Amino acid sequence: MRSHYCGQLRGEQVDQEVVLCGWVHRRRDHGGVIFVDLRDREGLVQVVFDPDRAEVFATAEQVRSEYVLRVVGRVRRRPAGTENEDLATGEVEVLGTELTVLNAAETPPMQLDEHGVEVSEELRLRYRYLDLRRPEMQQRLRLRSRVTQVLRGFLDGHGFLDIETPILTKSTPEGARDYLVPSRVHPGEFYALPQSPQLFKQLLMMSGLDRYYQVARCFRDEDLRADRQPEFTQLDIEVSFMTEDELMGLMEEMMRALFRAILDVELPDPLPRLTYAEAMRRYGSDRPDLRVPLELVDIADLVRDVDFKVFAGPAQDPEGRVAALRLPRGGELTRKEIDDYTKLVGIYGAKGLAYIKVNDWAGKGRDGLQSPILKFLPDAAVEGIMARTGAVDGDLIFFGADQASVVNEALGALRVKLGQDRGLMAEGWHPLWVVDFPMFERDAQTGRWMALHHPFTAPKEDQLGLLEEAPGACQSRAYDLVLNGTEIGGGSIRIHREAVQRRIFRLLNISDEQAEDRFGFLLKALKYGCPPHGGIAFGLDRLVMLMTGASSIRDVMAFPKTQSAACPLTSAPSPVDPVQLNELSLRVKLRA
Ligand code: AMO
Ligand code: AMP
Repeated sequence: MRSHYCGQLRGEQVDQEVVLCGWVHRRRDHGGVIFVDLRDREGLVQVVFDPDRAEVFATAEQVRSEYVLRVVGRVRRRPAGTENEDLATGEVEVLGTELTVLNAAETPPMQLDEHGVEVSEELRLRYRYLDLRRPEMQQRLRLRSRVTQVLRGFLDGHGFLDIETPILTKSTPEGARDYLVPSRVHPGEFYALPQSPQLFKQLLMMSGLDRYYQVARCFRDEDLRADRQPEFTQLDIEVSFMTEDELMGLMEEMMRALFRAILDVELPDPLPRLTYAEAMRRYGSDRPDLRVPLELVDIADLVRDVDFKVFAGPAQDPEGRVAALRLPRGGELTRKEIDDYTKLVGIYGAKGLAYIKVNDWAGKGRDGLQSPILKFLPDAAVEGIMARTGAVDGDLIFFGADQASVVNEALGALRVKLGQDRGLMAEGWHPLWVVDFPMFERDAQTGRWMALHHPFTAPKEDQLGLLEEAPGACQSRAYDLVLNGTEIGGGSIRIHREAVQRRIFRLLNISDEQAEDRFGFLLKALKYGCPPHGGIAFGLDRLVMLMTGASSIRDVMAFPKTQSAACPLTSAPSPVDPVQLNELSLRVKLRA
């Protein structure tokens, strides 16, 4: 039907006859001449209709935004002075000689040009097929397609097999709620949609397939955020007979190849690594945003014995933490700004946000400091804090004192917010591995041990003896890949011995019966010659979000769900016919 894409026309096509198909992006009447910006996947080109061809001109007068046209015309150079440098096709235009309206369009519910983004996301999702016509959205989906292509190419080139795993399956514990699917054939029984292909990829290693990958859909019923969707895509990987260093090395190579191919960016070689403990200590987070040049500093030892209980309490508590965060030139902050930051840390459970403004430490010493807590701090503590934080005149020092988890979350979030608000974010890409995770963390409510990654993650070999004795001190063979403050991937070397797997289940309060019921197939498979194996899964949506500069993964998914896990386009979820329910032996009982 066509000879060229609209967006492809350049000076080389001048004087050629072309046939274009596309949508009317904009139509302008210029005293006797009609300009139509015709749009397709590759971009826009200006088509001109002049009254010399009366019939064509009459049709052109009828067309409106989003009409679908087929245009035959001749490419010509735009008259000097009318070139459009903002447009890739801006040096040329097409003089239309034939015009067919392939389809009319109702007035769209939103503008599809640069003003379109101002409409609500609900409307954009309801009319997603229109929203996706916007060039920005098309760019993102194209980049996403290329990303998967490059990743597939890399893995294929390294001997990985692309293998599909079931969607109708049994629950796998990745820490979220399951989506359940009722079985018609087995009344009262349910499949679970996979939270990840975790157990199947491990079974594939036991089958001797050695290197597996899959672009896998995962389903998790959890609270949604900008970087969380109920169904999302992982690049899922598993290998046999590799150490963590070998696997991480290969995955780094893949990431470097990806960033080189797509963004022409050279990532560091090797990627930096931080231990979990160091990440928490310096950044209060296991996914530190290294673009922010601020760091937490421990000061518990300096304030253990001060009269200020807010500091001394946590300083003496083994589970407590007292930390300082120096903000260069923070002296400029207004009272209101400090109040707002106090509210921010409140969200994470902090009971306050003490601070010291450093007005004139160099000249006046202690008298040159301004702070609501200064009166509680003896000279030695003040001097210690100033020395350790490296504060100079004009700075402000924030403090957090509480349970370590509260201080980490609060000051970790404050650190990133200050980085954004104060223009401190470095440019570019700042990836890192976080390693040496603890095996377990305690559930705040029940006090029970929970797996920090998942229950199939191997403990460090030399710490097997510690498992029952000191679970909290035991470290795992897990690793996360973090990019600019987002966790884009995580994985581990797995348990490949049945006895160890059983010990871990017991520690996690999974009884032998429960283990048999939920993971019996895995425990059995582990007995038939399971190779040492491990893997990783990358959040493809998150990776593409970062690479395209989008602010939410919804913007890099063709048909995402809203924050309440609904699809405004199809109206899913929705009630079903009683006949269907009956077939499934289900009755709906709505909670009052
Ligand atoms: P994990 O649960 O860490 O590991 O998931 C791997 C990566 O998937 C992405 N991700 C998400 N992206 C969008 N929406 C979500 N709701 C969501 N949840 C997770 C993150 C994360 O790093 N089976 C293990 C992997 C393994 O051990 O090999 C797993 O699923 O980027
Ligand atoms: P107060 O004694 O409650 O008036 O607190 C004195 C200062 O300490 C105020 O600036 C509070 O914001 C701050 N503050 C109170 N609790 C904490 C805490 N847990 N961590 C850090 N600062 C706190």
